[in-house]
Amino acid sequence: MSDMHLSDVTTLRERARQNVQNGAVTEGYGADRQEVIRLLNEALATELVCVLRYKRHYFMATGLRASVAAGEFLEHANQEAEHADKLAERIVQLGGEPEFNPDLLTRNSHAQYIAGNTLKEMVYEDLVAERIAIDSYREIIQYIGEKDPTTRRIFEDILAQEEEHADDMADILADL
Ligand SMILES: [Fe+2]
Ligand SMILES: [Fe+2]
Repeated sequence: MSDMHLSDVTTLRERARQNVQNGAVTEGYGADRQEVIRLLNEALATELVCVLRYKRHYFMATGLRASVAAGEFLEHANQEAEHADKLAERIVQLGGEPEFNPDLLTRNSHAQYIAGNTLKEMVYEDLVAERIAIDSYREIIQYIGEKDPTTRRIFEDILAQEEEHADDMADILADL
């Protein structure tokens, strides 16, 4: 881009001193902060609902045929919890508040909480939820674009892991 320029040192130093109470959010922050926080909170709700669903599936998957799936359910539950932590941390960095109110989780979440009865139903619902997360995170990454590279990178890292999760579930589903 031809109209791009780097700020000189004096400008950078002056800008950093303005609104110091905003912490990591500087004058150069290019995104709509409230909108990014809202998207982060929707993703946080999605991750927390996924933790609960995978936990339920982990404890409900019994029998010899379920042991491989159960191991994956537990691993995914723990990784979704890590995703939730990263999102909550970023919300605070941006001056927002992470929403952990259980009454709001299913409303804000992109993916659904579906318990599933059989092992096949559980794996199927997990695969659907992963595919929903993949689509919504990809859209969020496109929306953020160049405006907030840190938030975008967080979503890109999470997206890569959701794609692995979907792949894991698809593999297990094919064997059931
Ligand atoms: Fe996740
Ligand atoms: Fe996932």
